Amino acid sequence: LRDVGFWGTGSYLPEKIMTNKDMESLVATSDEWIRTRTGIRERRIAAPEQATSDLAVEAGRRALENAGVAPEEIDMVIVGSCAFDMFLPATACLVADRLGARRAAAFDLETACTSFIYGAAIASQFIATGMYEKVLVIGAEVMSRILDFTDRNTCVLFGDGAGAAVLGPVPAGQGIRSIHLGADGSGGKALSIPAGGTRMPVSEQTLKDRSHYVKMNGKEVYKFAVKAMDDASTIALEKAGWQPEDLDFLVPHQANQRIIDSAVKKLGIDPSRVEVNVDRYGNMSAASLPVALDEAVRAGKINAGDRIILVGFGAGLTWGSMAIQW
Ligand code: ACO
Repeated sequence: LRDVGFWGTGSYLPEKIMTNKDMESLVATSDEWIRTRTGIRERRIAAPEQATSDLAVEAGRRALENAGVAPEEIDMVIVGSCAFDMFLPATACLVADRLGARRAAAFDLETACTSFIYGAAIASQFIATGMYEKVLVIGAEVMSRILDFTDRNTCVLFGDGAGAAVLGPVPAGQGIRSIHLGADGSGGKALSIPAGGTRMPVSEQTLKDRSHYVKMNGKEVYKFAVKAMDDASTIALEKAGWQPEDLDFLVPHQANQRIIDSAVKKLGIDPSRVEVNVDRYGNMSAASLPVALDEAVRAGKINAGDRIILVGFGAGLTWGSMAIQW
């Protein structure tokens, strides 16, 4: 099997900023409540004409440019999201077409906030076996279209954005050193969009109940998240054969500053070596990790040879981690 690594990264954030103050005019909340409970100060909101594929295409284009790879060279496009353009066709097919990735297989992947790690894991297997050379993995979300802006328990937490990476073969001993993925559907109800699928098709009643929007039991998800992040980080380290002190940088999923702090404490890593963007973007679900990774790489916080961990959790419930020698 070949070793697989990240050839380039890219991200795209919509221009419009919505601050906590702006939220105060929609629901009974306060900047103080949001900041102290989550660390979020503001988030980006897609323009009315922008759908998830529009954000994904922009992030994908930037990742291709960064990797020095032409769209026609891409063998497979994977788009991870929980807010696709529509049920049919797959958003990844639309994205591949718009990018000009004419040779590429394309499919969507839905493990909520863990989608980017799952996507990179799948990409790595195709490349490791030699079946494919270059795979584009994108995490993109227009969360603002699936949020209930009358529900203060959820609407203050999320934001819109997209991040992407091109994966390909790397010299032996470099790149992805370990992968850990998990899922537990028994916790699925803690974070869901109950209506709009085959279980509960859209009806006048579901519209009235607003059950086609995100519903969340915040406390339950919080408890799960802290444990999932701690466990998954530790397993990624162990599987890679690294000691905690070997770790140069941590890129965690960006749901809540307190959840990040807990993982940081558990790993014993200096907070200056942890990427945080939840303050500026909120939780962008599948987009949070690739955006954080791209910004850390472009800021020179992650350099060639560094040992890093990506770790995340999400609806499903799902979790995942990846140790990478950059
Ligand atoms: N403004 C003001 N008050 C609020 C708000 C708000 N925006 N939202 C909730 N509240 C109220 C609740 O109604 C509740 O009031 P009550 O006690 O009278 O019923 C109270 O605040 C709850 O307060 P706390 O117990 O202090 O809240 P907590 O510390 O649990 O923080 C939070 C809530 C931020 C939601 C936390 O539980 C959390 O981050 N959970 C994890 C969420 C998460 O990570 N989701 C994303 C998963 S990833 C994916 O797949 C998309």
